[in-house]
Amino acid sequence: MTASNDSVVFGVTERLSNEQLADEQARTLATPRRRASPAAALLFMMMDLLYGKRRTFAKFRVLEVIARVPYQAWEHVAYVAVTHRYSEPKFARRIFDRVAESRRQQDNEQWHLLILEELLHEEGRREPYIRYRLIPQVIAFAYYQLSWLLYVVKPAWSYRLNADFEDHAEHEYALFVAENPSLAERPYDGLFAEEYGRFDTLADLFRQIGYDERMHKLESLEAMDAPRFT
Ligand SMILES: [Fe+2]
Ligand SMILES: [Fe+2]
Repeated sequence: MTASNDSVVFGVTERLSNEQLADEQARTLATPRRRASPAAALLFMMMDLLYGKRRTFAKFRVLEVIARVPYQAWEHVAYVAVTHRYSEPKFARRIFDRVAESRRQQDNEQWHLLILEELLHEEGRREPYIRYRLIPQVIAFAYYQLSWLLYVVKPAWSYRLNADFEDHAEHEYALFVAENPSLAERPYDGLFAEEYGRFDTLADLFRQIGYDERMHKLESLEAMDAPRFT
């Protein structure tokens, strides 16, 4: 059986078969990580200090709370830019395409977050509120401001920071699957399967999420070279 791709849903990237997912995970593991910029390196260090080096559902959930905010910041800046430039419809159209892309990526991260939340619920463990709910919101708020500021000053800087973040996420998910063979024994047919896709196992689900992160990284790297509009 392969991952379902019979429904096309907003915010979802290409769905891969079991074989493709395993190949893409291997490709990630064989690819060296990007050299993270100081801001990204600081964030990863902070996450290890707060949540431990071990890859867990709870730590990934924190990662996904933060992952959405650069897209929200870019959407906001681009939307304001449309307001300023709508007298030039062709140009405004190009900016709006950027708005739509940010929304799509933001939605994709949202599914990742909701799936992790669902898996943590199933485990029935309650994580400490301050460390796992409040602090991630504070980090996400600061990360939003940084992404926004970098984007306004020089969009390529903001895209680069996000590429570092997505590269980190891609590798972390691939390692998580490699380190936890039991994920290949657990079926996934959760609350969000209709929208995000159905996967035979949690291993394939996380391989798909890791693949999404790679797509996000590649889109950010591509956007670094795109002409600016702000
Ligand atoms: Fe994600
Ligand atoms: Fe991502």
